[in-house]
Amino acid sequence: MPLWAARAAIADQEILMNPKPHIAIVGATGAVGVAMIQTLEKRKFPTGQLTLLASARSAGKEMTFRGRPLTVRELVRGSFEGVDIALFSAGASVSRQFAPLAVQAGGVVVDNSSAFRMDDAVPLVVPEINAEDIARHQGIIANPNCTTAITLMALYPLHRAFGVKRIFASSYQAVSGTGARAIEELQRQVQQIVAGQPVTREVYPHQIAFNVLPQVDVFLPGGYTKEEAKMENEGRKIMHHPSFRASVTCVRVPVYRAHSIAVSAEFEKPVTVEAARAVLRRAPGLDVVDNPAQQEYPLPLHATDKYNCQVGRLRQDCALDNGLCFWVAGDQLLKGAALNAVQIAEELLRIGG
Ligand SMILES: NC(=O)c1ccc[n+]([C@@H]2O[C@H](COP(=O)([O-])OP(=O)(O)OC[C@H]3O[C@@H](n4cnc5c(N)ncnc54)[C@H](OP(=O)(O)O)[C@@H]3O)[C@@H](O)[C@H]2O)c1
Repeated sequence: MPLWAARAAIADQEILMNPKPHIAIVGATGAVGVAMIQTLEKRKFPTGQLTLLASARSAGKEMTFRGRPLTVRELVRGSFEGVDIALFSAGASVSRQFAPLAVQAGGVVVDNSSAFRMDDAVPLVVPEINAEDIARHQGIIANPNCTTAITLMALYPLHRAFGVKRIFASSYQAVSGTGARAIEELQRQVQQIVAGQPVTREVYPHQIAFNVLPQVDVFLPGGYTKEEAKMENEGRKIMHHPSFRASVTCVRVPVYRAHSIAVSAEFEKPVTVEAARAVLRRAPGLDVVDNPAQQEYPLPLHATDKYNCQVGRLRQDCALDNGLCFWVAGDQLLKGAALNAVQIAEELLRIGG
């Protein structure tokens, strides 16, 4: 058990969560951080105090919470004094360095980065799937990879009903999944192309405007990318399903917001479209949008800014036994990040820390 976990375990026995917690957002100026501020406000999370933290570049910047200005402060070692819940979204190296300090200061960390997701001492949680794992936290709770979280919102209810063996999937991932600079890159490149100017690149290795990139994150020795491997690794942990297999191709597309995933899933039990639809209609956090005759199916534009993910294009898979194809879309800044983190914080309050 790491030192921070041992300290948190002791603290857990003595301290119940403040019902009006002091919240800190680390990475408050980023794409996820901004969505976190909005989500706390929209869901009327009982925030006693909000501290906004970012790098020295943003220190002094003003942001708004509940109609009042709040000044962003530089993240430093002492930033977590009195903080009950720290929502981290500033990348894995910042989380590795500062999350243990937040825990040592007596807070609970909900981390959006990949830093602790596969650590045995850290629950990896989608509240609609494994909220009960939160109770065994030792100071840090991890938010899953956004593509994995959105896929599992549809896959997990089907797994409960029919027992998933494996999936083959391709993702269509929005540029906001890379962060604020990637949103600017797509805007800039579209303007450059329309104006007949040369295209400049800063974030992606190739032009993203009017293109698709079959690479999200870095390549691993077997040829999959890190992002692609997360579906199987994180899916196994979240669903408590150690034999789950996932072969995924992750693709970056010139969409501003919301990821979509095309999934072919093979199940233990026979599955019909009607039975699957009935299961998905009852699933929390999910809307079935599936009326092909009227050209109605999930679209990233329609999933944007929505708490619920959307599933459609349900059909029997013609190449798998007990197979079902579906298409799921979700706002990765919300269900894939900010909303999921705030839902975890809500659950922490409900169970008293
Ligand atoms: N975007 C998504 O859809 C998504 C989904 C799930 C998880 N995540 C994860 O969430 C994290 C943030 O993603 P993002 O898309 O919001 O990125 P982003 O738009 O690039 O924002 C990064 C944030 O981190 C801050 N930051 C960077 N270096 C820092 C440092 N050394 N000290 C303190 N703050 C620092 C930045 O502050 P400055 O403004 O001062 O630079 C900014 O607030 C990443 O770990 C990412 O993998 C993102």
